[in-house]
Amino acid sequence: MCGIVGYVGSRDATPLLVNGLRRLEYRGYDSAGVAVQEDGRLEIRRAEGKLDNLVHVIAAQPLSGRSGIGHTRWATHGRPSEQNAHPHVDCGGVTAVIHNGIIENFEELKGPLVKAGHRFTSETDTEVVVHMLEDELKKGMSLEAAALAVVPRLEGAAALAFVSAKDPGKIVAARVANAGGVIVGYGQGENYLASDIPALLEHTRSVSFVEPGEFAVITANGVRFLDRGGKEIEKTRTTITWDTVTAAKSGYKHFMLKEIHEQPRVLSDTLLGRVERATGRVVFDEDLKLTDAQVRSLGRITLLGCGTAGFASLAGKYLIERLARIPCDVEIPSEYRYRDPVVSKDQLVVSLTQSGETVDTLAAMEEARKRGARLLTIVNVIGSQAARMSDDVIYLHAGPEISVASTKAYTTMLVDLYLFGIYLGQRRGTLDPNAAAKLLAEVFHLPTLVDAVLREEPKVKALAYRYHQARDFLYLGRGINYPTALEGAHKLKELSYSHAEGTAGGEMKHGMNALIDESLPVVAIALRDSIYKKMLSTIQEVRARAGVVIAVADDDDEDIAEHATEVIRVPHTNELLSPALAVVPLHLFAYHVADRRGNDVDQPRNLAKAVTVE
Ligand code: F6R
Repeated sequence: MCGIVGYVGSRDATPLLVNGLRRLEYRGYDSAGVAVQEDGRLEIRRAEGKLDNLVHVIAAQPLSGRSGIGHTRWATHGRPSEQNAHPHVDCGGVTAVIHNGIIENFEELKGPLVKAGHRFTSETDTEVVVHMLEDELKKGMSLEAAALAVVPRLEGAAALAFVSAKDPGKIVAARVANAGGVIVGYGQGENYLASDIPALLEHTRSVSFVEPGEFAVITANGVRFLDRGGKEIEKTRTTITWDTVTAAKSGYKHFMLKEIHEQPRVLSDTLLGRVERATGRVVFDEDLKLTDAQVRSLGRITLLGCGTAGFASLAGKYLIERLARIPCDVEIPSEYRYRDPVVSKDQLVVSLTQSGETVDTLAAMEEARKRGARLLTIVNVIGSQAARMSDDVIYLHAGPEISVASTKAYTTMLVDLYLFGIYLGQRRGTLDPNAAAKLLAEVFHLPTLVDAVLREEPKVKALAYRYHQARDFLYLGRGINYPTALEGAHKLKELSYSHAEGTAGGEMKHGMNALIDESLPVVAIALRDSIYKKMLSTIQEVRARAGVVIAVADDDDEDIAEHATEVIRVPHTNELLSPALAVVPLHLFAYHVADRRGNDVDQPRNLAKAVTVE
C-alpha cells in the first residue's frame, strides 16, 4: 500500500515526481503529496483524494526544486484528508518524510515529543518520525546520521524517505521489515527512488533493492547504501527487462481490460522454454534449485497466498496431489503466521504472490523458514522481496500488473502450478511419459483457447449488463473449479461492491440453498469434467427453487441450455487446465458489471495493490 517516489538531479523535480506517482497510484489513492527542495527551501503540496487533485493544487501554486519526494496514500492511521496526506514536516517546515507501512509504537514515541513542545498537525503514525529527525538534525547531524539514529527506534514495518533543507540535494531512504519495496534507480547525473518498478521504467532499467534494515543515501552523483550500524555496504545492480509500453494502457479503457486481453501473449511467455525438447521434461530456469533427489524426498507441500493468489494456491493443491501424489495443504498466510504451525524437514512451502510484497505472505514465509521449511515462491515481480527470500523461484513472466484486480497473474499462476505439478510428477515417477506429453501438448494450446474465449466478450458483456443490478450473486464450482468459483465471486465483490459468495456445489444442500430465489443470479461452472453430472444435479436443484443460473459450459455441450437460464461457452480442455480458461469469462463479467455501474474498475474503493500492511 502507499507509493513512494523520489528524485535528485538537475531537472525540475515536480513533474517527475507526479509522473512517478501516476504509475504508482494503484498502490493507494486516498491522498497524494510532494515535497520539493532547493536553495535551503522546502516546499510542500498535498491534496486529499486522487492524484489529479494534487495536480490541480500544483497548477494553482507551482513549486520548483531539483530534488524531492512524493507519496500516494492508502490510509491506515488517520482518515483520508489533506491534513493526513504525506509528506509530513517538522515544526520548522524544513524536513519532510513519506512513509509506507505502520509504525506500531508511534503513540509511545509521540508522548515525549509532545511534552518537549513538538507541534503535531496530523492523526498519522508517520508524523512522529519527522519530529524525531528534527531533534537529531538540531544536533548538527547529516540527514543520514539523523535517520540512523531514528529509524532503529521504530517498530512495525516501514519504507521511509526523507529530505531536508538542512542537508540539501539528498534523499535518505530506509526500510524497516517488509513494508513494500524501496528501489533505487540509477540515471546519468540524477538518481531515483520508488516503491515499485513502473515508476522508474521511463528513466532507467538499472536498479538496486534496499533490504529490510538498510538505508540508501541518494544524491545526483551517486548512491551509498548503509546497514543499520551506518557501515557502507556493496549493492548489486539489477537490470529490469519490462518496457514502458507494457506498463501503459495501450488504448484500453482500463488496465484491467488490457491485462485480461494480454493473456494469450502472456501465457505464451510463461510457457517459453519450460519443456526440454530432448527429454520432454518440464524445466524451470536456474532460480529453481531443487534437485531431483530433493523432489523425490518431499513429504508434504504447503501452499499459501492471499486473496486471488490464495485461490490459485487451492487450485495448486488439486493439481499437485493429482499429478505428483504429494499431500498438500493450503494456508491463509495471515492465519498461518500466528498459529504455531507444525513444519517438518521434508516440507516445501510454496508461496504465490503477484507483487512479492504482500506482508502477510512474507511473514508466513518467514515463519515457515524459521521452522525449517524450504521456501519456493511463484511470483511475478522480478527481484521482489518474496523472490529474494526464497530458496527457489518460479517467475510468472506476466509483465507489470497495474490494475488492483489481479487477472493475468492468476491465470499464469495456474499455468505455473500445472507445470510444477508435471515437473514433480515426472521426477517422482507418478506420471507416465505419455500422460505428461499429452498434458504438455494441451497447455501449449491454452493461449489459443483463451483467445477464443476473449472473442466471446460481447456476449459476456451483454450478460453483465442484464444482471448488473443484482445485489447478491452466488458462484458454484466443484473439484478443481471450486477455486474458480471463489475467484469469480471475489472479483465481482471487489469491483462491483455487490455481495458475492463462492462455494463448492456439493455444499448447497448444507445451508446455501436457503438463499435461492428469483433475485439471486447463480453462476455455475459446469464443464464436462469428472463431476459434470453432479454439477448438473446442483443446477437442477437451484432451478427447481426458481433460481437463475448462468452456466459456464463447454462449447459443444448441447444439454446445458435445457438446464441453465444463460450459458457462457468456453472451448473444451483437460480438467486440470480448465480453471485457467473458465475464469476468463468470470473476470470479464466482473469487469463489465463494475464498469456498467460506473465504478472505478482499476482503483476499487478501500483497496490497493500490493498490501504491505498487516
Ligand atoms: C484480487 C487481488 C488481491 C490480491 C492479494 C494478493 O484481485 O488483487 O486479492 O490477489 O492481495 O496479492 P499478491 O498476489 O500481490 O500477493
